[in-house]
Amino acid sequence: MIKTSRDRMTDAALFEEAPDVFWKGVAERLKWMTLPSEISDVSFDKDDLHIRWYADGTLNVAENCVDRHAEARPDDTAILWIGDEPGTSKEISWRELHHEVCHMANVLKARGVGRGDRVILYMPMIPEAAYAMLACARIGAVHSVVFGGFSPEALASRIEDCGAVAVITADEGRRGGKTVPLKANVDAALARVSGVRLVLTVQVTGKDIHFVHGRDYWWHEAREEVPTDCPTEEMSAEDPLFILYTSGSTGKPKGVLHTSGGYLAWASYTHDMIFQCDPGDVYWCAADVGWITGHSYIVYGPLANGITTVMFEGVPTWPDAGRFWAEIERHKVNVLYTAPTAIRSLMKDGDSFVTKYDRSSLKVLGSVGEPINPEAWRWYHEVAGDGKVPIVDTWWQTETGGVLISPIPGDPMTKPGAATKPMPGIKTALLDQDAKPIEGAGNGSLVLTSSWPGQMRTVYGDHQRFIDTYFSAFPGNYFTSDGARRDEDGDIWITGRVDDVINVSGHRMGTAEVESALVAHEAVAEAAVVGYPHDIKGQGIWCYVILKAGHTSHDSLGKELRQQVRTEIGPVATPDVIQIAPGLPKTRSGKIMRRILRKIAEGETSSLGDTSTLAEPEIVDVLIRGAEGER
Ligand code: WTA
Repeated sequence: MIKTSRDRMTDAALFEEAPDVFWKGVAERLKWMTLPSEISDVSFDKDDLHIRWYADGTLNVAENCVDRHAEARPDDTAILWIGDEPGTSKEISWRELHHEVCHMANVLKARGVGRGDRVILYMPMIPEAAYAMLACARIGAVHSVVFGGFSPEALASRIEDCGAVAVITADEGRRGGKTVPLKANVDAALARVSGVRLVLTVQVTGKDIHFVHGRDYWWHEAREEVPTDCPTEEMSAEDPLFILYTSGSTGKPKGVLHTSGGYLAWASYTHDMIFQCDPGDVYWCAADVGWITGHSYIVYGPLANGITTVMFEGVPTWPDAGRFWAEIERHKVNVLYTAPTAIRSLMKDGDSFVTKYDRSSLKVLGSVGEPINPEAWRWYHEVAGDGKVPIVDTWWQTETGGVLISPIPGDPMTKPGAATKPMPGIKTALLDQDAKPIEGAGNGSLVLTSSWPGQMRTVYGDHQRFIDTYFSAFPGNYFTSDGARRDEDGDIWITGRVDDVINVSGHRMGTAEVESALVAHEAVAEAAVVGYPHDIKGQGIWCYVILKAGHTSHDSLGKELRQQVRTEIGPVATPDVIQIAPGLPKTRSGKIMRRILRKIAEGETSSLGDTSTLAEPEIVDVLIRGAEGER
């Protein structure tokens, strides 16, 4: 039995009084091969930046997430897979999970993949995605999951950046009644980069695919040729577990690196504290394994805690807006954890899709990935949760590994949209422009003043970028790039990103990435991309595009440019608005005034502020008129 920890006050008090005892308790949730005697060795000083947790401990993450439960409760369900097609589902017991993970690990090993090798996963939401992650962990390989909504171009750049030797994929993925050509995308990516010597493909739809002899294998065939048992590698707590690419303010996504011991301990601790599941409960995080939420709260957190985790292949709106609630009734789901964008898209189809199903099994409803507007919060609480089920609005980031600020069940649910209080062990501050802490109520930049075990350790291959991005703006602190407000009760409200990152349907996107995709088109001279409020997606993608001399706008140009972005990044980044413009508002020194572009896209043109410092102030009216035509 894993020691559970569900009383925030007790843990917070222990942390204040004896931090090392608290952190030791967090580590003891795990099964270690060598129990760590060191807690942490951390410096946020940018000249000596290092972050280490439990560094002399050794363990295997897969043993924690699979073997210890397979021994104790082999026949209980580890993964409940719910297929895209309504009515299809499959239960995978802990014993079966163990069996499959060992097989996949042995397939990788048999083809020379081992400790420290990077393996790309480009997969649909099928149990094999979890097997692949855990198989890598078992043999000490480092996985990097790439979301299936990214293009071959984006996939290739990630393969190249991490120097992957193997790719695990499927013939096709299924989502909302449509298929995604995953293996064909892998082929297209591998035509551009070298180094990959193994492609393992799971058969999902049976679609004819192209195979390269000596490189490509079917999973169902390869698994027949390997032994059933696979010993676990003994890993240091600080050995890398995975790399996950995420967007920042600059064009190139960063490979966020998480390590084994601290990451798993934090995922396990927060999953327990926030969702309070017991063995036998059915816990459903409806994210995709391509994002950090899928890593920490579909795979690692719940499995480490021995909780039945749902993997859902489909989408909330197909075949209709009742999908979540139908499955909750069918499988007696106890926890649902999803993004505000999903909640908003279900809300608009009316309450009857929810109320016709029995949701009495629900104990906790979670929200993640973007600010939840009070209207969506109330609907989630009152309609989905019958006014009884607590909402946990969890704030965190790819970089933080697990949740840092959130209410927990049992807290008074009186503040729709507040992330409320930091988890025990987490020290936040709000800083003003001069890096001075704001005491009491106020608005500022959200920073973490000290480390926690789930913190990312570096940007893969570019430690300087890690330092520059997170530890330079406010020396001595980890800067989140989010703004926040503290109210009179000390509760924290996240106000959103203060950099050029936007949040589209809960997917994090760098505006610079979309800009570089647009300028790759032959007709485009310059592009500026901003987010604007979107009823369902939270933020939409608004692109201002300047054409090269000799090119004029034509009927299909918008379509071509959208296609260009889909090719360079993928369907997740498809622009909502493309406004062809004669120029951009720039200062005399040539800097684009994004603040003005954001206001125009938002339709907030009465509050543009001072435009007199612009090189060509008259461009603003032209852009405003153009924007009205787009709305
Ligand atoms: C935003 C997703 C408000 C925030 C786990 C953060 C949120 C970014 C919340 C990270 C929340 C995440 N309330 N905003 N509950 N959760 N965000 O890396 O701006 O995909 O910086 O991690 O999402 O996005 P990421």
